[in-house]
Amino acid sequence: CNASLASSDGFLQCLSAAIPEQLLYTQSSPSFTSVLVSSIQNPKFFTPSTVRPLVIITPTDASHVQATVVCGRQNDVRIRVRSGGHDYEGLSYRSKRPEVFAVVDLATLCSVSVDQKAATAWVDSGATIGELYYAISKASNLLAFPAGICPTTGVGGHFSGGGLGMLLRKYGAAIDNVLDATLVDAKGRLLDKQTMETDVFWAIRGGGGQSFGIVLSWKVKLVPVPPRVTMFSIPKSVNEGAINILTKWQEVAPALPEDLFIMAIIKKQVAKFQSMYLGTCDALLLLMGTRFPELGLNQTHCKEMTWIQSVPYIYLGNTATVEDILNRTTSMNSFSKATSDYVRQAIPKDTWVQIFTWLAKPEAGIMIMDPYGGKMSSFPESATPFPHRAGVLYNIQYMNFWSAATDGSARTKWLKDFYTFMAPYVSQNPREAYVNYRDLDLGENVVVGNVTSYQAGLVWGQKYYKGNFQRLAMAKGEVDPDDYFRNEQSIPPLVASK
Ligand code: FDA
Repeated sequence: CNASLASSDGFLQCLSAAIPEQLLYTQSSPSFTSVLVSSIQNPKFFTPSTVRPLVIITPTDASHVQATVVCGRQNDVRIRVRSGGHDYEGLSYRSKRPEVFAVVDLATLCSVSVDQKAATAWVDSGATIGELYYAISKASNLLAFPAGICPTTGVGGHFSGGGLGMLLRKYGAAIDNVLDATLVDAKGRLLDKQTMETDVFWAIRGGGGQSFGIVLSWKVKLVPVPPRVTMFSIPKSVNEGAINILTKWQEVAPALPEDLFIMAIIKKQVAKFQSMYLGTCDALLLLMGTRFPELGLNQTHCKEMTWIQSVPYIYLGNTATVEDILNRTTSMNSFSKATSDYVRQAIPKDTWVQIFTWLAKPEAGIMIMDPYGGKMSSFPESATPFPHRAGVLYNIQYMNFWSAATDGSARTKWLKDFYTFMAPYVSQNPREAYVNYRDLDLGENVVVGNVTSYQAGLVWGQKYYKGNFQRLAMAKGEVDPDDYFRNEQSIPPLVASK
C-alpha cells in the first residue's frame, strides 16, 4: 500500500529543488549502479530481483539530508540510510519487500576532527572506523578508540548497534564512549544531545540503525593506550588439545585483567586464539604463565607494535600497512550469512567435541568468539540499549561463506541446523543476539495499519535488546510516532496514551 501512495515524480522534483543535481542518482543515471555497489559487502543483495532504490542521494551537507526527509514525508517515499554498507542483511540499500524508497548514502560526509588535548573527536557517520582510527593516530600514538575490527565498517551503522572490538574488555563498546551526536529526525529537524529527547539520545547509542532518524555525526571520548601493544595469534588443532584449551578459555578469557583480550576463531578442526595486550611481551608472558599456561605462549609468539599498527595486522595480515586501513574498495566475491549467540554458562567439554564434529562437515562455516567481562560488565543492562553485560562470558558469531558457483543453500542450512543444535548451551529466555550481526531469520516486522507492530517486533526485539526493547519503542514513539523511518527490523513506535 505504501508503493501506491508514493509520489515518485513529486519526490524527485522536490529533491531537485533543494539538492544539487550531481548529488542525485536516479535509476537512469549512468553512475547509478556504481554508486549503489560502492559499499555493498554481500553480492547476495545485488541481484536482478533485488528491490533497489528509486534514487540515491549523496549529501555533502546536513541541509541535504534534512531536505530529503522533508521531501520524503511530503511524497510518501521512505528513506533508507547507508553509512558503510556492512549491514548483514543489506537493509541500508535494499528492501526485502517491494516498496518505493530512496537511499541516503552518507559516504561523502566523512570528516574526522580530533581534539588531542581534550581526548575527544567528532566523526561523521559516513567515515569508516579505519578512517577514524587513522585520524586519531595522526594526532597521538597514545590515544585510540574502542570499536570494531574491520576497517571498512561505517561509523553510522556500527555505532548505532554497539561497536565491538579488541579494546572492549578495557573500554567497553563504541557506544559506551559516545558523548554527543547530531541527528536529523523524521520532521527534518537537526538535533543534538541538548535538543533531542534524553531517551532518543539513549536510543541511538545501540538501539540499531535507521529507527530514530539519520545520525550525521558523533562526538566520542578517546581512550589512552600504551606506546606499544603486544599481539599474538596461536592456532591449536584438535590434535594439539584445542578442545581442552577452549573449555578453559571460556572461563579464563572473560576473567583476565582487562588489558588482555583473547578472542577465539574456530575453522574446521583448528581454534585460533588471537590477542591484544595493552602492555609489553614480558608482562604478558608472566600473566599468561599464571592464568592460561595451557595456551603455551612464548616469546616467539609476541609481536609488539603501536596500537594503530595492530589494526591492519589483525584484519588485513602482517604485510598490510597502516595506510591500507583507508582503502574502501570492496571485492564482492564472497557471499555470506551470519547469526549470533551469547554464552553465559561455560559449554561442557563433551559438547565441544560435538561442536567440532559440526565444524568438520564439508559445508561448515566458522565460529568467532569475543570474551566479555571487564568494562563490558560494569554497565547496567539499561545504561544503553545494548543489554549484553554482566554475566556474559562471550559472544559467538556463526558465519558461513560461499562463492557464486553455488546457491549457498547447503551453507545456510548448515548455519540454521547448527544454530538449532546450540540452543541448549547458550543464553535463553530470550536467546540473546547482537543487532550488528543482523539476522532476519530471528524475526521480521509486521506492519499493521501503516505502523510497525510492537507485539510482532517483540520476537526479534527481545533477543537484541532484552528489557530495553520497550523503552526503545517508547523513544521511537516520541521521535517518530508515524513510523516514517522503518525497515524489516526497525523499532516499532509505542505511543503513550494521553
Ligand atoms: P550500513 O550502512 O549497512 O548500516 C547498517 C544499519 O544502520 C542499516 O539499518 C542502516 O540503515 C543503519 N544506518 C547506517 N547509517 C546510519 C546513520 N547514520 N544513522 C542511522 N542509521 C544508520 N561489528 C562489530 O561490532 N565488530 C566488528 O569487528 C565487526 N566486524 C565486521 C566485519 C565485516 C566484514 C562486516 C560486514 C560487519 C562487521 N561488523 C562488526 C558488523 C557491523 O558493525 C554492522 O554491520 C554495522 O551495522 C555496519 O555499519 P555500516 O555503517 O557499515 O552499515
